[in-house]
Amino acid sequence: MTGRAPLKLQIDLGDRSYPIVIGQDLLDDVELAAHHVAARDVLVVTNETVGPLYSARLLAGLAGKRVRTVELPDGERHKTLTVLERVFDALVEARMNRDACVVALGGGVIGDMAGFAAACYQRGVDFVQVPTTLLAQVDSAVGGKTGVNHPGGKNLIGAFHQPRAVLSDLGTLRTLPPRELRAGLAEVIKYGLIDDAAFLAWIESSVDALLALDMDALAQAVRRSCEIKARIVAADEREHGQRALLNLGHTFGHAIETAAGYGEWLHGEAVALGMLLAADLSQRLGYIDTADATRVRELLRRAGLPIEAPAIGAARALELMGMDKKVLQGRLRLVLLREIGAGIVTGDYPADALQATLRGHFEVPA
Ligand code: NAD
Ligand code: GLY
Repeated sequence: MTGRAPLKLQIDLGDRSYPIVIGQDLLDDVELAAHHVAARDVLVVTNETVGPLYSARLLAGLAGKRVRTVELPDGERHKTLTVLERVFDALVEARMNRDACVVALGGGVIGDMAGFAAACYQRGVDFVQVPTTLLAQVDSAVGGKTGVNHPGGKNLIGAFHQPRAVLSDLGTLRTLPPRELRAGLAEVIKYGLIDDAAFLAWIESSVDALLALDMDALAQAVRRSCEIKARIVAADEREHGQRALLNLGHTFGHAIETAAGYGEWLHGEAVALGMLLAADLSQRLGYIDTADATRVRELLRRAGLPIEAPAIGAARALELMGMDKKVLQGRLRLVLLREIGAGIVTGDYPADALQATLRGHFEVPA
């Protein structure tokens, strides 16, 4: 899509609606950041990897404003309340007020942390997402979930706080490590599985182009993923119902991430394996057939995502899954596949079917 005009979507949330702009080399459009970051006082939150690569280009677009930058250490294991204090310290030291804007420049870890800081600082200031991973561009930068991890579970401390805009520069994906690109593809596949069988078929035919960083294919993947997420979030912002569909694979995945130690498994990798387990359970319950479950496994394999679970044990996996935010009145609700392209959220499944799925994947072989 070299030279093509950026794509623009809108997420409709009344007076909290905002645009998602998707394009190549958006960071070189000096008017774009200035247009979407209305505040005079700006704190750019980034990390030690992304900052050196991209903050100068972002800052050029914020010329004339009073801008401070805070660089956090890189990695999921730093997504903690302790590290978040550095963002609050920077805001206070710069004497920023309620009219300040926090700009998140980075992947989902930075986006979630900067967004949570913006939700809390002086009870809420504006923030803008500038996501630089595929995962953040298709998922975490959109929809307003922000937060940090707790040793007892992923993202247990957080808030809903919508950004004012999401500016997704596809060109930043060129420097992304291939493993991170693959992890982002897991979330793209998720949208096809829960909502759009035609999109899933398109991903199957485009997976090689996506892995080769074909910009047209990436633009299409980010656009369709954001369209699906924007529609679901607009209908159920606070996850009282259908938004939980976006968590396909996440309940199993969070257990893997927590058991392995944050950062060992990438979030997208854990979600990929979680989707495999969700497909396994959906097959056991008779929703999908063996060919469908094999199709899910084959696409994940072609995308270079894990299809073998770590041997954490079924009991430990179930215990960790019990910390999931989808537990309602003691009942663990899961996102399953009613068919390819149609997810369901249900707590109505026999416990022994879940046990069979967990034992089939998480047990140490005898
Ligand atoms: P990440 O933020 O850790 O980024 C992955 C790695 O890529 C990091 O090392 C980062 O420094 C590096 N990086 C980022 N952009 C780069 C670039 N353009 N070039 C080179 N390196 C780059 O991981 P992620 O996969 O983006 O996000 C995962 C996080 O997102 C998890 O904490 C997960 O819980 C969260 N998440 C949140 C939501 C939500 O709705 N808020 C949804 C999905 C995931
Ligand atoms: N990533 C899940 C959600 O935004 O709801």
